[in-house]
Amino acid sequence: MTEVVIVDDPTAGAELVAGAVAALVASRPAPVLGLATGGSPRPVYDRLAGLCSTGELSLARCQAFLLDEYVGLSRSHPASYRQVIEREVVVRTDLPAERVLGPDVWVAESDLPAACRRYEERICEAGGVDLQLLGVGTDGHIGFNEPGSSLGSRTRLKTLTARTRADNARFFDGDAGAVPLHVVTQGIGTILEARHLVLLAWGEAKADVIGRLVEGPVTASVPASAVQLHPHVTVVVDSPAASKLQRAEYYRETWAAKPDWQGI
Ligand code: GLP
Repeated sequence: MTEVVIVDDPTAGAELVAGAVAALVASRPAPVLGLATGGSPRPVYDRLAGLCSTGELSLARCQAFLLDEYVGLSRSHPASYRQVIEREVVVRTDLPAERVLGPDVWVAESDLPAACRRYEERICEAGGVDLQLLGVGTDGHIGFNEPGSSLGSRTRLKTLTARTRADNARFFDGDAGAVPLHVVTQGIGTILEARHLVLLAWGEAKADVIGRLVEGPVTASVPASAVQLHPHVTVVVDSPAASKLQRAEYYRETWAAKPDWQGI
């Protein structure tokens, strides 16, 4: 079953997920993290930064892969996902900047398909992603796999929906027209190859999509519902984001009864 953990608030969720990262780092010589952007993973990045600053955690042996990237922004644009991860993770932890890779979208347009293939190869060469952080769009997208995306898709060029551009306008001074139309994203098939998926959602605005992705049918119309196919997936939500889950009580009971040593 898709494990659902309903936490008191994003800070408690972040502590839980950072604990899973710490356990991973302790158990593998070269851990591979999958990093997501958007507001949802931020509390986790804050917590990781805190643990690194006190010396309780080191990400120095880690490698990281980004889920997706806008096409058409300069490398130094503050909204480019490379820059977001640089600001939110790299400068605040000891994760080595040169070991953070994202899709190379700064090539000639005709070279994008080859760059997408190369990105998949880099992930494979690293041994695959151990722990993949995910947010979810209000339309059900993961990475930038919009509704209708093939559940077997690989890293490729995609066109954003008007809804996603409107949702992400907040990172472009409120101007949806400034949000790029095109992106490169890991495919759903790529994401499902990570060994542990951790999907985060906070607040009532995500309640509907969380209900559909956890308890609805697996369908390309809700790309995030593909996580139901994964053998190790943890959905971490606060109570408002969990408010449309039919089995919320059961998830709470299951979590309360789970032995501590199992972690997430
Ligand atoms: C963007 C990202 C997704 C992210 C989504 C939700 O579209 N490409 O990876 O999950 O936004 O963002 P937020 O967490 O801010 O709600």
